[in-house]
Amino acid sequence: MKNKGLMATVALIFIVLIGVFAYQAGKSSNQTQSDKKVVEEVKTVGILQFVSHPALDAIREGIEDALKEAGYEEGKNLKIEFQNGQADQSKLATMSEQLVNKDSDILVGIATPAAQALANTTKELPIVLGAVTDPVGANLVADVNEPGGNITGVSDKAPADEQIKLGTELLPDAKTVGILYSSTEDNSKYQVEEATKAAEKLGLEVKTYPIPSTNEITQTVQVMSDLVDFIYIPLDNTIANAMPTVVGEANKKKVPIITSVDTMVEQGGLGTIGIDQYTIGKETGKMVADILNGANPAATPIYTFKEGEIILNKKQADFLGIDIPEEMLKQAKIVGGDAE
Ligand code: TRP
Repeated sequence: MKNKGLMATVALIFIVLIGVFAYQAGKSSNQTQSDKKVVEEVKTVGILQFVSHPALDAIREGIEDALKEAGYEEGKNLKIEFQNGQADQSKLATMSEQLVNKDSDILVGIATPAAQALANTTKELPIVLGAVTDPVGANLVADVNEPGGNITGVSDKAPADEQIKLGTELLPDAKTVGILYSSTEDNSKYQVEEATKAAEKLGLEVKTYPIPSTNEITQTVQVMSDLVDFIYIPLDNTIANAMPTVVGEANKKKVPIITSVDTMVEQGGLGTIGIDQYTIGKETGKMVADILNGANPAATPIYTFKEGEIILNKKQADFLGIDIPEEMLKQAKIVGGDAE
């Protein structure tokens, strides 16, 4: 009898112990699950691109690749919310609201008007500028070395003086340059001033052709083609978006185009001294990763490129009957076709 009682007690203790053990095991496995969650937390990056043109598309690609290289991978620990404003101010405003409301951890504005729309929407979430020509002039940061607020990023400021000089070297007989740009883009204003100063210094007459919208491009290029020896285009999104039209019209009168960017040379510009667009995107993406990892935008200086490379379209030069100096040809990167 006594023994039976003892056995029952032992059995009971045993059962209780198993119960406690099972409970503990369950609890700790829950714990590892939530620990895992912390490590694989998904970050949301909200990207707003102003419009589609080859340069901005390449920048976007660079951003995504750099994030991947920094360990942020879509489907794992990264969610990219992407919006394209299609060059429409009211769309940019609504899309900015949406990106903020989608719990983005960080926002990226590709091109000035997109960055400005984001900046008007939040003063708290970090914003990284993707290829904003003049962040101070566009009222986005106080100082390029100490941005101060929630915004920092990458500027693609181009060497306008060197680009104009390249034009005079390729076209030694040129007397007049026509600058084509959109009157609504803050990013172009700065560069038009720089280019004007540089051109006048070199003894060129400068005619400026600001256009209010895409609708005026064809006619403006037709008019200017009769009045200028070459066309100069700054980092202007509206013109970049309509580059095939610009080239088509200018080619009718065989007027060369000096651009500010490799992609526009590829599309039929004659040449530029510029920065590879994909590389601009990579720098932007690296900065996004740094901030996700804890860097403070207020104390992160704006990244600017020191040097551009000579980029020429040999096929276009041949079409226009332009001889590229041997020395220049040696240094240049040739894009836009096969006529080498
Ligand atoms: N820098 C332009 C801006 O601030 C954007 C841009 C980047 C761009 N690459 C370009 C514009 C090439 C025209 C062509 O908005």
